[in-house]
Amino acid sequence: MDAALIKTVNKLQDAFATVGVQNPVDLPQIVVIGSQSSGKSSVLENIVGRDFLPRGTGIVTRRPLVLQLINRPGNETSNNDTPKTNGETPKTNGVTKTKATKSSDSQESDEWGEFLHIPGQKFYDFDKIREEIVKDTELKTGKNAGISPQPINLRIYSPNVLTLTLVDLPGLTKVPVGDQPKDIEKQIREMILKYITKQNSIILAVTPANTDLANSDGLKMAREVDPEGSRTIGVLTKVDLMDQGTDVVDILAGRIIPLRLGYVPVVNRGQKDIDIKKAISSALENERKFFEEHPAYKSKAQYCGTPFLARKLNMILMHHIRTTLPEIKAKIQAVLLKYQSELLTLGDPIDDGGHNHANLVLNIITEFCSEFRTILDGNSNELSS
Ligand code: GDP
Ligand code: NA
Ligand code: MG
Repeated sequence: MDAALIKTVNKLQDAFATVGVQNPVDLPQIVVIGSQSSGKSSVLENIVGRDFLPRGTGIVTRRPLVLQLINRPGNETSNNDTPKTNGETPKTNGVTKTKATKSSDSQESDEWGEFLHIPGQKFYDFDKIREEIVKDTELKTGKNAGISPQPINLRIYSPNVLTLTLVDLPGLTKVPVGDQPKDIEKQIREMILKYITKQNSIILAVTPANTDLANSDGLKMAREVDPEGSRTIGVLTKVDLMDQGTDVVDILAGRIIPLRLGYVPVVNRGQKDIDIKKAISSALENERKFFEEHPAYKSKAQYCGTPFLARKLNMILMHHIRTTLPEIKAKIQAVLLKYQSELLTLGDPIDDGGHNHANLVLNIITEFCSEFRTILDGNSNELSS
């Protein structure tokens, strides 16, 4: 389904480009919020499926990171070189597919990052992307825990992503340390509000499972801007660090603080995993095992973990596309009308050629419209549940 969604949105975008209209599907941006060290950067990175964000104990994310994933058709032959594991397609991790076999610094790689503040420089090595984020953070905020609302803008080009924006934010904190201003709490709140107030934002409210949900800063802020809970997903991190005999089953069942879109428990890499540079793929495998083998979760393992979170996000994206479909159709019709009236003003000899051109455009649009509908209908059950 994820691959189909990517393909369809691409076709849509291509068809619009053909008729000279840009970016018809304004996909939502995904914003992670929560208290400091709750696991926000870890969650985001797992969704993207690549290692590139600075993570760790203490205040690591000190400026907003606006991450634009940009779909760009890949190099077919290099994709075919990837050995297939017993006939399976590469694992799809929600909005992206991870390519386990490709080395991160491969120059032929069809995935790279580019920073707005270093135009034209392509980063194929995702470790270098992380270094640049740290470097530019320190440049603007100093080394001593300072913060700044000035965002770092990073684009990642890949054939395996949806054209989509994700935002990583500093965590909510109350007591200033180092060079932090006295009103650190207020400043960070304002920084976060700027992003989550947008109706187009899907809020991932991150709460560590080993803390009290009632004290969740992320949930409290999400509720301020989204009281209906129509665009807030609760993410419970550090489920692996809960005390023996405790679990999040009551939270998942909506018995503690109900949330319309529900909660997803996840297990990210711990600090030790980060230190030994444990790969995302093995972290995801570890997460899967954790939920499948845990007595409290094994009966509901399919509703747990990063892949389920990614699926949930996909469903919300599909829902969003569905609701914008009438607008998209209106745009297409307007463009077609314009073409047709232009054709009427043309003389006979050019008329035939013009018609062919218009027919070509019409065919493309008709094709993706029906394909689009098939995909949307295929997901309508999931969407309405
Ligand atoms: P952020 O400050 O909210 O962005 O949090 P980070 O993603 O930087 O993570 C903070 C720390 O918590 C890091 O040391 C992570 O390794 C650790 N961490 C995050 N999520 C989990 C989890 O699910 N399990 C474990 N054991 N550690 C986690
Ligand atoms: Na942190
Ligand atoms: Mg962070």
